[in-house]
Amino acid sequence: MTMTEPAISVRGIEKSYQGLHVLRGVDFDVARGSVFALLGSNGAGKTTLVRILSTLLRADAGTATVDGHDVSTDPLRVREAISLTGQFAAVDEVLTGRENLVLVAKLRHLPDPGGIADALLARFRLAEAGSRRAGTYSGGMRRRLDIAMSLVGDPTVIYLDEPTTGLDPESRIEVWDVIKELARGGTTVLLTTQYLDEAEQLADRIAILHQGRIIANGTLAELKQLLPAAKVEYVEKQPTLEEIFLTLVGPSTGSGPSTGSGTQHSKEKAA
Ligand SMILES: Nc1ncnc2c1ncn2[C@@H]1O[C@H](COP(=O)(O)OP(=O)(O)OP(=O)(O)O)[C@@H](O)[C@H]1O
Ligand SMILES: [Mg+2]
Repeated sequence: MTMTEPAISVRGIEKSYQGLHVLRGVDFDVARGSVFALLGSNGAGKTTLVRILSTLLRADAGTATVDGHDVSTDPLRVREAISLTGQFAAVDEVLTGRENLVLVAKLRHLPDPGGIADALLARFRLAEAGSRRAGTYSGGMRRRLDIAMSLVGDPTVIYLDEPTTGLDPESRIEVWDVIKELARGGTTVLLTTQYLDEAEQLADRIAILHQGRIIANGTLAELKQLLPAAKVEYVEKQPTLEEIFLTLVGPSTGSGPSTGSGTQHSKEKAA
């Protein structure tokens, strides 16, 4: 393994659930120390892909390596390298913030769980709240604690599956700041999101997962070149990521992967 090798490499990954062909050959690389945003509508297969890359789910076809280790032949090494903050938080509401962190450090058999907990509480601006039950935290504090818990043991790669879904605007910005700080510290971040502004704010590269494949992958500037800039009253207006997404994904957003090739060409769309 070399430092120039991608942190995550995905080739031809396919996955079906009972005949529903969710992933149909997914390919992408994530450079070390970068933030990579995987964009997709509800049901596009983002969580499915994250679960495959976390070794929680086996792909039907294709290969994926994380930190140089193959997810299917070397799952233990992959698990040592990663941490996953799921779409549904792992925080125990009965425990205090500090107790949650100490518990994770103990589960990972790390020396000095208390010291690790205190350092993470300080880093995520939770030192004062650390002795309060997590059940009393705001959504943003809880999500920060959840991300802090996933950083116990210093993983080199972190997956954040919809880290700000359900948060109010202020809490979203708090979580964004935490993710930016992670990236500055050299952690590789794979982020899934349905929010285009989130990808725009955080990601070095953005990939759009649609109907089982990556249909676009590039920097924001590269994606903007996919659409011509509109000339509005002599002022050039750059397309927003939302306009690019909607143009690439087509008019019927919100739909999952098609169940068969027939529905793919359906132009039905409620007004
Ligand atoms: N265990 C399962 N059994 C059957 N179908 C599943 C299973 N898990 C996911 N699916 C289906 O696979 C598709 C992709 O689901 P997935 O959760 O990966 O999407 P997603 O992009 O994460 O969506 P969301 O944005 O809503 O989180 C959906 O149609 C979902 O209903
Ligand atoms: Mg999901």
